[in-house]
Amino acid sequence: MKAAVFDSGIGGLSVVKSLLARRLFDEIIYYGDLARVPYGSKDPNTIIRYSLEALEFVNNFDADILIVACNTASSYALEELKKTARFPVLGVIEPGVLALKNSGVDKNDRVLVIGTKATINSDSYQRLLFSEGYKNVTAIATPLLVPLVEEKIFEGAIVDEVFKYYFGKLDGFDAVIMGCTHYPMISGSLANWFNNAKLVHSGDAIVEWIEKQGVLAPIKGETKLRLFASENVNHLKEVASQWLNLP
Ligand code: DGL
Repeated sequence: MKAAVFDSGIGGLSVVKSLLARRLFDEIIYYGDLARVPYGSKDPNTIIRYSLEALEFVNNFDADILIVACNTASSYALEELKKTARFPVLGVIEPGVLALKNSGVDKNDRVLVIGTKATINSDSYQRLLFSEGYKNVTAIATPLLVPLVEEKIFEGAIVDEVFKYYFGKLDGFDAVIMGCTHYPMISGSLANWFNNAKLVHSGDAIVEWIEKQGVLAPIKGETKLRLFASENVNHLKEVASQWLNLP
């Protein structure tokens, strides 16, 4: 089976990391729109147009499924992508909420959703959480965390200062949905800050979702990973070799 994974930039490698660990696919085609990242500050029509253009690129590869790793694209463009694609399209929002539910987080627990401005403004996570019965949901945009991760600053004084800025006045939470591809890279710092609240990681949530469908058995060898970008593919490859420990 061949999966295409699409993200606005490098962040979707956090989803690829989970997919590689579980060896669900023979081949993964990753496409990052590095020329136009970030999507999180763009308006909905632009996000939909860029996502459909990404699908056109992916169409060259005969993929069996498109995984939209980008939370922002999943929030706005999933329906259009599903209508247009010749193969199944899976976004990260629904698997994320199901992973939260399956991990035993109670409907009365305090749930925090963090993501880009666009993801939070779309209400995508909040709507689904409310429809699943979660009553105590707080959602805040935390865009400053993206450049920190891109600068490989995963912990320490600067991260703590940004956390204080965003979370300093908030009470504790039982669960945190990391609603942005970059945030799993700072999950250690988030776990410390939120006193080991349950953290939901989109990549692990996607894997859990796919495994629950029961249609894919783990492959025998390694997954072949091919990396593509709308510009600066060398940067994507460098980050991939660090994050994914590639040779
Ligand atoms: N990949 C985006 C997401 O998960 C974060 C970076 C961006 O703003 O494009 O929402």
